[in-house]
Formats: sequence, C-alpha cells, structure tokens
Amino acid sequence: MSTLDRGKFNSRFGFILAAAGSAIGLGNIWRFPYTAGTHGGGAWVIMYIGFVFLIGVPVLFAELSIGNSTQTSPVTAFKKLVPNSWWPALGGLGVLTGFGILSFYSVIAGLTAMYAGFAIGGKFGGIDIAQSGEIFGQIVASPVWMIGVSFGFLLVTALVVRKGIGGGIEKAATWLMPILFVFLLILVARALTLPTAGEGLAFMFKPQLDEISFQGIVSALGQALFSLSLGMGAMITYGSYLPKEENLPASAMTIAVFDTCIAILAGLVIFPALFLVGAEPDKGPGLIFVVMGGIFDAMPASNLMAFIFYGLLSIAALTSTISLLEVIVAYLVDERGWRRERATWAVASSCFALAVPSALSLGASASLSRITEKKGFLDIVDMLCGTYFLTFGAMLICIFVGWKWGIKAAVAAIEHGGHKMPAVPVWGFLVRYVCPLAIFVLLIYGATQGANW
Ligand code: PFF
Repeated sequence: MSTLDRGKFNSRFGFILAAAGSAIGLGNIWRFPYTAGTHGGGAWVIMYIGFVFLIGVPVLFAELSIGNSTQTSPVTAFKKLVPNSWWPALGGLGVLTGFGILSFYSVIAGLTAMYAGFAIGGKFGGIDIAQSGEIFGQIVASPVWMIGVSFGFLLVTALVVRKGIGGGIEKAATWLMPILFVFLLILVARALTLPTAGEGLAFMFKPQLDEISFQGIVSALGQALFSLSLGMGAMITYGSYLPKEENLPASAMTIAVFDTCIAILAGLVIFPALFLVGAEPDKGPGLIFVVMGGIFDAMPASNLMAFIFYGLLSIAALTSTISLLEVIVAYLVDERGWRRERATWAVASSCFALAVPSALSLGASASLSRITEKKGFLDIVDMLCGTYFLTFGAMLICIFVGWKWGIKAAVAAIEHGGHKMPAVPVWGFLVRYVCPLAIFVLLIYGATQGANW
C-alpha cells in the first residue's frame, strides 16, 4: 500500500502535536501526581526526569527510527526490516497491549469527561472530600453510568480515528492541544497564587533522600515509559506517517520535553491544591476524583475551575486514546488490507466489550480499585498491559535496534532527512546496554513483587 493511501501528517508541527498528544494523557495528570505523591515527591520526581532522558528518549528515538524508515506500522515494519523472523510478533504484542490499555484507559477517561459534565451542572460547590468520596462511590457502583461513559469516550475516539491521519488525528490534535495548554496555564496560575503554593513546590522539588525505595525507582522508570507512550509501537506508528525528510531528532526531543513539562505543571496544580485543604498527597489513583473533587469548593469560581481541570484531563485522555486506537487500526489497514472505516469500528466495538468488565470492576470495590488493596479487572488489565507488556516491549525494541537492526542503520534512518543526530555513541550505548538492562531489572523486580507501579 502506498504512503498516500495510508495517509500522512501534513506538517511536522501537526506530527509533534499529535505525538505529544499521545504522550500527554492520564499518565501525566492522573498517574504522575499520585505516584509522585505515593513515593514522597522531590527525589522521585528527579528520578523520573532522569529516566525520561536516560531511558525514555533513547527508546523514543528507536521507535521513531523504525516507523519513519519503513513508513509502516509495527508488524509490517519488522517484516520489512527482518523478513522471515519472529520479530513481527513484537509488533503483534504491541497491538495486543494497545488493545488492553485502550480498554481500561477509556473507562477512566470516560469518568473524567463525566466529571467535566458535573462541573457544568454546578456539582462542585459546597462539597468536601468526604462528600466527594461518596459521590464517587455512587458513580462507580452504577453500571449504567460506568458503561455509558466508557462507550461515549470510545465512540468519540473512533469518530476521530476513522477520519484518518491528516483529516482526523492531526486536525484533532491541532485543536485540542492548544486548549489543553491554555487550560493548564489557567490552573497553574490559580494554584501558584494559593497560599499553599510554596508547600506544593517544596513537596515536588525538595529531594527527600530517605523517601527513595527500590520500588520508587522502579515506578519512576515505568512511569517514564508509560508517559512517553513507549513500548507498544505507538511512536513507530506515528513516525511512519511522517515524511522521511523531516527533522526526527528535533521532533523527538520536543515531544519528550513537552511531555515532561506537562507532568510537572500538572503536579504544580495538584499539590498546592491538596495542601490547601490539608489533604495528603499519597492517596493513590483516586486522588484526582475523590480528593480533588472535594477541593474546588475552597476556591473561588469552584465549578469553573473544576470544569477546566476535568476538561483538561478529558482532552489529554482523548489525544492518547486516539493513538492507542490508531496502533490497532494501522495494523489492520497495513497488514490485513482492511479499510480504515471498517477497522476503526471493529476495533472500537471489540475494545468496548473488554472495557465493560473494567468499568464494572470499579463498582465492585466501590472505589477506584487501587485505592484499596483489592485488585479488580481494571487493575489486572492495567498491570498486565500498562506495565508488563509495555515494559517488555520497550526492552525488546531496544534489543532489536541495538543488536539486530543495528545502531548504524537506525542512525542512517534518523538522519535520512539531512538532520544530524546528536551524541550518536551515547545513544548507541544507552540503547544497546543501559536501556535493556535497566528495563530487565525493572521487569524482574515487578514480577517478583507483583507491583502495579
Ligand atoms: N502516554 C499516555 C499517558 O501518559 O497517558 C498513555 C499511553 C498512550 C501509553 C499511548 C501508550 C500508548 F501507546
């Protein structure tokens, strides 16, 4: 199939927005703050940033080089690069991983959209954290709401993806990302003018070395990969829609810096707000629903602020679900020759079937499951796909580029457009040795501890 039939990004700017949109998601605004909060703040945040650049960026380069040089999605890309090998199975693992992540991600994304709707209905005035917890418990216990919001989110995602790359994904990112940025800046301005801004800043940036644990190190690495959408071929797929002449090194760095800045800005919003009402930042995944939901009343224009906060989360989640769905659709289009429209609806509806048990599992523990120790279906899919498969995939991608395809070939692909890649020997060393080894240690530790990071 020719590049023209597959679609392509119309501009490098559009590609950067779409790829940054994939990276910036619930991982930044939901997972990052509560994980940082659980691991004591400052030191963990510094480790996370270190891993983004030491491990995440090298893997990002690896994925973009594979996609851009082959101009096709992962399974077909591996077939092109090493015919008659088992490497295409790595692409298959990515498709499976994307399917799993999309199924539980759309449940939480649906909840954020529902909360944005609550704000429009004026629900956030006059409630404290206890009442907010009660409301949350009622929602997750309602099968109709839970299934409904997940369905709605998948539907909107499919409506964008069916329109293709330039006319769907790029267009959506071009509209949504600036709104996301403006929403975030409004919230940062609000949070930094709260009397507890200093406390929030200190929590995020003051390294408390006694808080560092091995589990914290592992979770920082896992978060770096998840946040940059690495390990399942999303960046291979997006890179394949970018013309070969484009400046890949600059694009990759922009995406990584952008994604990290957004996570830090999200932390700058959430921590000062938490300290305003004396809430502890270690409340786990329910932080943004239960705890944040009860905080807006302490601010002027509570419902407007809540709308901006949950609207921001919904937008961030949407540009990520789009990329998750696209990985699977691209596989069916490139490898199986399906029409995009048919592939989109088939994948979205089967993913919805898998989202249903996740949506219902939250109600079983009457709480966002990982608040409690009890593991529900959503947690299991999250742990399996969002942690193990993703991490395993990232490790194999490094081994592929470092040892099979070769650093030389990958650098040639990256520099194809005439844009020099900086620090090639460093990158080669990281991809061949540091990344696979670090990820291996992470996987073994995760497997032995049964950690959900
Ligand atoms: N990077 C997204 C986030 O931080 O929420 C999650 C994600 C999207 C992971 C797409 C993997 C992926 F392919």
